[in-house]
Amino acid sequence: MSKTKISNPQSLKFARVPHPSPLAADKRAALLKNPGFGRVFTDHMVTVRYHESQGWHDARIEPRAPIPMDPAAAVLHYAQEIFEGLKAYRTADGGATLFRPEQNARRFQQSAERLAMPELPESVFLEACDLLVSTDREWIPDGDGSLYLRPFMFANEIFLGVKPSSDYLFMVIASSVGAYFKTDAPAVSVWVSPDYTRAAPGGTGAAKCGGNYAASLLAQAEATKHGCDQVVFLDAVDRRWVEELGGMNIFFVFDDGSMVTPPLGGTILPGITRSSLLTLAKDKGIAVREERYSIQQWKADAVSGRLREAFACGTAAVVTPIGTVRAPDGEFTIGNGGSGARTEELKSVLVGIQRGRTADPHGWIHRVF
Ligand code: PLP
Ligand code: COI
Repeated sequence: MSKTKISNPQSLKFARVPHPSPLAADKRAALLKNPGFGRVFTDHMVTVRYHESQGWHDARIEPRAPIPMDPAAAVLHYAQEIFEGLKAYRTADGGATLFRPEQNARRFQQSAERLAMPELPESVFLEACDLLVSTDREWIPDGDGSLYLRPFMFANEIFLGVKPSSDYLFMVIASSVGAYFKTDAPAVSVWVSPDYTRAAPGGTGAAKCGGNYAASLLAQAEATKHGCDQVVFLDAVDRRWVEELGGMNIFFVFDDGSMVTPPLGGTILPGITRSSLLTLAKDKGIAVREERYSIQQWKADAVSGRLREAFACGTAAVVTPIGTVRAPDGEFTIGNGGSGARTEELKSVLVGIQRGRTADPHGWIHRVF
């Protein structure tokens, strides 16, 4: 917790233990041809330890390997765990960049606070990400791919009492990725979960903690059973306001050119893609409202044609059009069921900045090397 008396170093010296036998270049190239999402991992990982008596210490980058754990480690019992997701991109001049990584570092601190965990200094988070990207630079795919970084932290105290752990491990691993959705369809379909909610007021919805995803899995499995790519959650109180998808935020585009996205209020994840798109839309003079939008209105507007487009957004999903919405009482289609001009326009501006193809007016790009 931030209340800790231990001095929190703003930087740590990382010990470097190079992999003695990194994967051969031809084998790596074969994996990078079609990596999918989250299955191909690089040679190294970062670990930093925390103990309440020592603060953050023992920072290292070392060969990626299984981590020994005691079966009584607190995370295995009470799920005190948080994580982040951000991507490194290859630049035309052979360098590498990250997109707004300080935002991930800050959200990580906010998640830590909610889960009663110690705050990791922003500078340590950033250095850990930079170090892994530069060490495993050969793993950044060309073309549309990227290197997905997964910083995470978990409770490592060997104790079965229910209390904040005294001991934590922060790690970063990296995965070469392509598109998140496997579908070739021009847009994804979503299932409106009738029975399950993701987060309640006062809960952990705004934190990026593993438990939120564990709680979403049954609803996501139900979506898959109904032939849908993702689950969309309604609010836990009135069961009518659209909140977000299992792993991404949502935007709506109307016939007058305006846009709506559900407001942050503690129950949805404050997405960095969402916040970037809000800024980019405003730059373009688009009227964009952070406003509650009900499932009934969504259906009525899709049927009347007032709603022209809807899209999901997030680090993994980037900007993905939503074509079909399915619920137990029937389904409806948005626009022509494919993508729309506004979705494509915002996606191309965002991706252009992320990949260094267009100007970066807000200073969002962080050069790694
Ligand atoms: N909402 C949820 C539940 C997510 O898991 C994610 C992905 O990280 C997002 C929204 C989008 O957040 P970001 O744009 O920061 O990746
Ligand atoms: C991300 O976009 O980084 C996420 O964590 C979402 C998950 C669906 C992979």
